Amino acid sequence: MVKPKVLVTRRWPAAVEARLSESFDTVLNTSDTPLTPEEFRTALQNYDAVLPTVTDRIGNLALELERPQTKILANYGVGYSHIDMAGVTRHGITVTNTPDVLSECTADLAMTLLLMVARRAGEGEREVREGRWTGWRPTHLVGTKVSGKTLGIIGYGRIGQQMAKRAHHGFGMKILVQNRSRVAPEILAQCNATQVDNIDALLPQCDFVSLHCPGGAQNRHLINASRLNLMKPDAFLINTARGEVIDELALSQALWFETIAGVGLDVFDGEPNINPALMNCDNLVMLPHLGSATRESREAMGFRVVDNLCDFFQGREPRDRVN
Ligand code: DGY
Repeated sequence: MVKPKVLVTRRWPAAVEARLSESFDTVLNTSDTPLTPEEFRTALQNYDAVLPTVTDRIGNLALELERPQTKILANYGVGYSHIDMAGVTRHGITVTNTPDVLSECTADLAMTLLLMVARRAGEGEREVREGRWTGWRPTHLVGTKVSGKTLGIIGYGRIGQQMAKRAHHGFGMKILVQNRSRVAPEILAQCNATQVDNIDALLPQCDFVSLHCPGGAQNRHLINASRLNLMKPDAFLINTARGEVIDELALSQALWFETIAGVGLDVFDGEPNINPALMNCDNLVMLPHLGSATRESREAMGFRVVDNLCDFFQGREPRDRVN
């Protein structure tokens, strides 16, 4: 049987690349640079499957094609707001993602950011590294206690629930939840969480807010100037979801005028470019999209893609189909 032709758009963990090459006629991206829109269009005309990541912006440009050869986009990652789903679906292309296998690690990183901003760890690290530390003193880099505080979680899917577990069972935090649909009582009960009707009602009650909703047009600037104004001046905001969920200009102003206490970001609108307005804010910790960046998660994500491809090309319904 002829093996399906598969293009991997970025470098993947070696064990996954090896497994992929066993079952498919695989072309790997050894230079690990993002494909240009033109290269992506060409790929859609020449490969049976393309395996994109968040760095591949698969908008209309890539899909103005007559009859693409590609039958499946097996995304390496859980979020797929970088894919124009309506356009892809119009061409009859199946899309899959990689849920579950990165939820714990992404929640770990959200908790890392929460602790870093609350305890001013980023500022402290910069001070030591730059030789500015003058020694212990009672008023030096005094942060905020985390234990027992209220955490608002926006988006109560797999990652949001893992975040709640860490915060509630590890730090005794009270959990408030905002989610577009009703969350089952038994799920809320796992962390003694309370679902709040809307974001505007949730924000003023929280000491910390962590975003775990999808990105894309429907959630663009969900956190805007007026919502930032609803947060308490001593509250912190964490984003490991997608950059576009926050209006970054409004965020930089909230930080600058100290209408909120601090922010931890792992994702940025238009990343890897960073809005210059964010660069000079001290009470901000920025990480380079590390949510799922553990050896375990990155391998498991790749194996999940391989499973989806095997299902698809062997005539079974792929487990993680999203369209
Ligand atoms: C994900 O899985 O969505 C990560 O953010 C990487 O894309």
